[in-house]
Amino acid sequence: MSLQYAVQTALRAHFAVNPAAIQYFSAPGRVNLMGEHTDYNDGFVLPVAINFRTVVAAAAGHDTLIRIVAVDKNQTDEFDLSRTITPHPTQSWSNYVRGMARVLPADGHPPAGMRLAVSGDVPTSGGLSSSASFEMALGHAFLQMSGLPVDGVALALSGQKTENDFVGVQCGVMDQFISALGQKDHALLIDCRDLSSRPIPISPQTAVIVVDSGVQRGLVDSEYNARRQQCEAAAAHLGVKALRDADEKMLAAQQHAMNPVIYRRARHVITENARVLQTAKALAGGDMQALGPLMAASHRSMRNDFEITTPAIDTLVEIMQNVPGVYGARMTGGGFGGSCIALAPVDIFAGVKAAVDKFYTRATGRRATAYLCRASAGAGKIR
Ligand code: GLA
Repeated sequence: MSLQYAVQTALRAHFAVNPAAIQYFSAPGRVNLMGEHTDYNDGFVLPVAINFRTVVAAAAGHDTLIRIVAVDKNQTDEFDLSRTITPHPTQSWSNYVRGMARVLPADGHPPAGMRLAVSGDVPTSGGLSSSASFEMALGHAFLQMSGLPVDGVALALSGQKTENDFVGVQCGVMDQFISALGQKDHALLIDCRDLSSRPIPISPQTAVIVVDSGVQRGLVDSEYNARRQQCEAAAAHLGVKALRDADEKMLAAQQHAMNPVIYRRARHVITENARVLQTAKALAGGDMQALGPLMAASHRSMRNDFEITTPAIDTLVEIMQNVPGVYGARMTGGGFGGSCIALAPVDIFAGVKAAVDKFYTRATGRRATAYLCRASAGAGKIR
């Protein structure tokens, strides 16, 4: 059953909506090619939107209520836009809806009441930004159903604010930005300071291979927020606004005076930022052989300096790196579980999948799932 059919059926069943009055919106998940934990340091990232999406069906409500059914959870929520919107006491998915509804009106335009149904195929525990895709699809529904224009960057910032203020994750803007503004067959080189971006073409011969490690992402929020604080401490020590403004020389000059953990956190961010620019250049110039050392260095840096990988993830990356033909592989996303990414010629996908199936379970006792992804378009109305 297609996602669009699933949300249409649910919307009609729950709210007796006339099918002719339904509009559909969708937004993709993402995978990051390079640049982990650089976004909230005003740095660079290089993500792609992927061909897994959240789809929202919406119909006007003629009142001030948002009523929504989450098809995959078989749960509903309802709240009144004319009252102060508060977090849901038990349903965490509801807080993305409530958060977006509360954050968007801060721009001066309260959304109208509406009925909504949501479903998606972005794996929810794989670190592929299912929540950002939910926020961006909802944002389009809220704004477009209210007759308001959508600015992709502003929408991404609203999603980030929802996470920061409503969900409690002090994330950067990467996930929402790429979900809102991704381009088919391109990665986006995003400058998270001025929020400009440049599309970097990905040749159709290059496969974006995502392997979900099956490692449950534990303590993600607290560890994530702790990393962010450590980066701020490092920037303060170095006397810069953000780690984006520091380089390896400045850091080396201060090493003796720095807490060793803070020093290593800073070294990850500073070197990772440089790797993003080098990766974008290599991809744009078709220099695929440059990707291996860059991705390997990124993974080592996440493992040793930023300490966000796990033993099973390290094993998975090693398996992927050793498949003949693979350009490079690394963990991707916030860490402590989630997914790994490899770039390779398209015909190498089967080899990666076979190697993962053969060696990963044997080494770790876990099961991983491999996906062949395509760089896809960002959020919008489905026509
Ligand atoms: C999560 C956050 C992003 C980013 C990555 C790490 O996905 O939501 O803002 O910080 O982790 O690169």
